[in-house]
Amino acid sequence: MLELCKVSGGYGHAPVVRNVDLRVERGETVALLGPNGAGKTTLLAALSGILPQRSGTVKLGGADVGGLPSHRIVECGLVQVPEGRHVFAPLSVEDNLRLGSVSLVRRDRARAEERFDFVYRLFPRLAERRRQLAGTLSGGEQQMVAIGRALMSVPRMLLLDEPFLGLAPRVVEEILAVLDRLRAEGLTMLLVEQKLDIALPFTRRAYVLMKGRIALAADSAELARRDDLAQLYFDLARQAA
Ligand SMILES: Nc1ncnc2c1ncn2[C@@H]1O[C@H](COP(=O)(O)OP(=O)(O)OP(=O)(O)O)[C@@H](O)[C@H]1O
Ligand SMILES: [Mg+2]
Repeated sequence: MLELCKVSGGYGHAPVVRNVDLRVERGETVALLGPNGAGKTTLLAALSGILPQRSGTVKLGGADVGGLPSHRIVECGLVQVPEGRHVFAPLSVEDNLRLGSVSLVRRDRARAEERFDFVYRLFPRLAERRRQLAGTLSGGEQQMVAIGRALMSVPRMLLLDEPFLGLAPRVVEEILAVLDRLRAEGLTMLLVEQKLDIALPFTRRAYVLMKGRIALAADSAELARRDDLAQLYFDLARQAA
């Protein structure tokens, strides 16, 4: 579904991510792990066409999407749930969701309308609060809006950037249950996460990014079984330094 080959990129002359090779198969859920500042968000920005400096190839379903502007990448089905949620505070829940369907409305208005029902069924709490201003929602509800907004465009693949950051365990469980349903329906996902206890049980494979490079690619279950994970992380960070 998604294939990165030697992707490098950054904001100025020095690249932040370097020579990243990464694959996510259709229907697969893959974790992108790594400490603060490793370049996880930068790598997602490179995939979404919003990074000023970028090289390498990005293929989605076999088609090269590397040079496309961000709205075209969304139309191709690669949609990001951004770090920090970024809901539009002065707009209602429903208007926030509507913003996610802008490109779909142009192609298929009826399908875009149906998507509201799909998102509200997944997140009944959003249905109850459809007229509420997004800025007055709890952190967990705002995250639901961010995921719902991404789903409005009928993505083939979701890129989730630390969706559980700062949320209570109960809310994390609630959102994980929704992501589980989406996975069961065959949605492909790349989950950026720092907490291994969340990321590994939820994914099939994992990449560890350290200082902008892939330091390790492994089977999630195999990684989870290791009892020296903390030491492994430490060693990878030292090697990358
Ligand atoms: N807009 C920007 N302009 C310049 N440098 C940036 C910008 N955004 C990030 N960086 C730098 O790129 C590096 C990687 O940052 P990035 O946000 O990709 O890391 P991350 O792995 O997502 O970290 P976190 O887990 O804290 O979100 C950091 O050194 C950061 O300072
Ligand atoms: Mg980040």
